[in-house]
Amino acid sequence: MKRVSFAEFGGPDVLRLVDAEEPHPGPGQVRVAVRAAGVNPVDWRIREGQFQEVDPIELPAGVGQDASGVVDEVGEGVEGVEVGDHVFGEGSNTYAEFAVLSAWARMPEGLSFEEAAGYPSVMETALRVIGQVGVRSGQTLLVSGASGGVGSAVLQIARDRGVTVIGTAGAANQDYLRGLGAVATTYGEGWVERVRRLGPVDAALDLAGSGVIRELVELTGDPRKVVSIADLGAPELGARFSGAAGSMPEALAEAVALISRGRLHIPVERSYTLADAAAAHIDSRAGHTRGRRVVLV
Ligand SMILES: NC(=O)c1ccc[n+]([C@@H]2O[C@H](COP(=O)([O-])OP(=O)(O)OC[C@H]3O[C@@H](n4cnc5c(N)ncnc54)[C@H](OP(=O)(O)O)[C@@H]3O)[C@@H](O)[C@H]2O)c1
Repeated sequence: MKRVSFAEFGGPDVLRLVDAEEPHPGPGQVRVAVRAAGVNPVDWRIREGQFQEVDPIELPAGVGQDASGVVDEVGEGVEGVEVGDHVFGEGSNTYAEFAVLSAWARMPEGLSFEEAAGYPSVMETALRVIGQVGVRSGQTLLVSGASGGVGSAVLQIARDRGVTVIGTAGAANQDYLRGLGAVATTYGEGWVERVRRLGPVDAALDLAGSGVIRELVELTGDPRKVVSIADLGAPELGARFSGAAGSMPEALAEAVALISRGRLHIPVERSYTLADAAAAHIDSRAGHTRGRRVVLV
């Protein structure tokens, strides 16, 4: 089979489309014929070697953790899923023709493979940080960096829970945020004042890592009401950095429920081929994705 692989850490040019041994599922896993793989910032961070000190990998390595596809092998002890089922979920080396998933759910009616591949990781992250920041129905949540993958999920989950969201994004994404039910404003000079004029804020999420923790603490009045997924310095200001993943099966079940009720839709900004994975990484790394990017197989 073909898979995207890299044999040294570095820029997008280290990615190669190579022939590789087909993977097979172990106990509790399934294998899918991949139709699409979600592109996440963590994919290019791993490729650059950013996690080698904390979570080292061996080279050569594959790329990708999110996928949608058709189940074609079922591991020992797995129940409730059959060869031929259309699923989406999380596994390893998903930028490939075949990949092994360790968590999955059946795709809801009407969802394309292309869109399905975009949900797993961002849903897990969004549900985790909404829980950690402790925002309730009737309260207002400020989301810095609201138009990307995680932001798109946060906005819609919060709306479904009766939480008012103020989201910041670039000028081109203001209507996009409004379409997801948020009150929108731009980041950049004067943003704190613009948010203040929109009203009081009960809790805040930093999803972009743009150095705004101090301001988010100021706006909420309490560092314990600020959570970041992208600023490792957040704890120095009393805020929380959220890094440890929560339950993927629960996140997938919630995604299925919300999509089926018409309460969640994350658009795919652009799709790429396996051979063009480097372009997907370049575009993701530029940091202005609206919704999701996926690699189609
Ligand atoms: N700790 C964890 O568990 C965890 C989990 C998932 C992701 N992450 C990290 O969280 C970040 C976001 O992930 P993602 O998948 O949502 O990324 P993404 O889809 O690439 O979205 C990034 C968003 O950031 C916005 N942005 C860019 N510059 C900004 C600024 N100066 N101020 C405010 N917003 C700005 C962009 O909005 P515009 O396009 O409108 O400019 C874009 O929509 C990444 O750094 C990723 O590595 C961490």
